[in-house]
Amino acid sequence: METLDAFPLVLQKPCKEFLESYRNACSETCGFVNHPTLMHDPAQFEQWKDSIFDTYEKHEKGIDLPEGQMPSATYWLVSGSEYIGTINIRLKLTEELENYGGHASIFIRCSARGKGYATKALDLTLAQARKLGISPILITCIESNAASLHSLLNAPHEKRESVSTVANGTECKVSRFWFR
Ligand SMILES: CC(C)(COP(=O)(O)OP(=O)(O)OC[C@H]1O[C@@H](n2cnc3c(N)ncnc32)[C@H](O)[C@@H]1OP(=O)(O)O)[C@@H](O)C(=O)NCCC(=O)NCCS
Repeated sequence: METLDAFPLVLQKPCKEFLESYRNACSETCGFVNHPTLMHDPAQFEQWKDSIFDTYEKHEKGIDLPEGQMPSATYWLVSGSEYIGTINIRLKLTEELENYGGHASIFIRCSARGKGYATKALDLTLAQARKLGISPILITCIESNAASLHSLLNAPHEKRESVSTVANGTECKVSRFWFR
């Protein structure tokens, strides 16, 4: 990936212009996670390349949602001509999301980690959640995820709760951060 520090990080709706860069990010070794909103399987590119944008639009409107999922808005973080990451904002909380998951997930592509993008991405996420009328905004993090925890601690929050709970099927310590 080219050096991107010269370009600002911008949040925008997923679009064709960044599809090839997104595809490359999906192929990065620690980039592919089994979460169809945050990352797609690069081996299945031919199957999702034409439907990805339409699916995001539908999921924001609550159409054809996978079972148990709330309507959510997906944005790509881009810098210059490169895809950097994905943000998914849930428009409403379920009991499960209130426990762990919250209103937003932030994903930074593997090759762009450790450069301060999560901290910037969190600012952009909070601003977008406010625009969508969400208040207060809940963002959760498994405490052993040091980079995630650090970026959340850096941001001015109204309240932090640290609880033992089950997240992703495992008992762990989770911090719940509330923002206005
Ligand atoms: C968590 C994640 C978003 C962090 O992204 P990132 O761009 O690498 O994070 P940053 O470079 O902005 O670092 C954020 C903070 O964590 C610190 N940090 C980064 N890696 C760290 C590590 N391994 N140990 C301790 N601190 C670390 C940074 O120093 C920074 O703190 P500072 O500003 O006080 O110096 C990224 O690793 C990721 O996408 N992970 C997979 C998805 C995920 O777990 N998302 C979070 C839950 S929704």
